[in-house]
Amino acid sequence: MSRLQVFDEADGTTPLLDTAEAAAIGEALGEIGVAFERWPLKPLDADSDILGVYADEIARLTEQGGYRSIDVARIAPDHPERDAMRGKFLSEHTHGEDEVRFFVEGEGLFTLHHDARVFNMLCSAGDLISVPAGMRHWFDMGAAPRFTAIRLFVNPDGWIAQFTGSDIAARFPRLEHA
Ligand SMILES: [Fe+2]
Repeated sequence: MSRLQVFDEADGTTPLLDTAEAAAIGEALGEIGVAFERWPLKPLDADSDILGVYADEIARLTEQGGYRSIDVARIAPDHPERDAMRGKFLSEHTHGEDEVRFFVEGEGLFTLHHDARVFNMLCSAGDLISVPAGMRHWFDMGAAPRFTAIRLFVNPDGWIAQFTGSDIAARFPRLEHA
């Protein structure tokens, strides 16, 4: 279930806002320049051509954002590299371009750090999120990751994490699988 918790950056235990309502999530994230939408899901199986199934949605996004490269990240809970993959983006970082993800299966926790607030956004299937270039954030797929996300890039070569060196991520909730 999609859920947003907003914290003061100094307190990762008591949320100032806690909502699972899509409209409220969209509004709160919109105020800090993060696009969030919930889109209808389509049936998928293990062999589905995900980019083909969602071709219309991808075309719409590409028209708006000028994305030149699109791929699919799909990870199962028994993936042998899951710990290394999880660790890669667990610390606060930024990118030189927007981070655009459309979750079509499973879930992942994006945490956004803007001014003195921390936004813990649990994305689930059907969620589209776009984290603006330069915004501090981190991402947790959890200890038993399970998600499929369509990733859209303007320039995949430029999509490199710049780590801020802050340890703030350790003070906020991680992804706990239901
Ligand atoms: Fe990132």
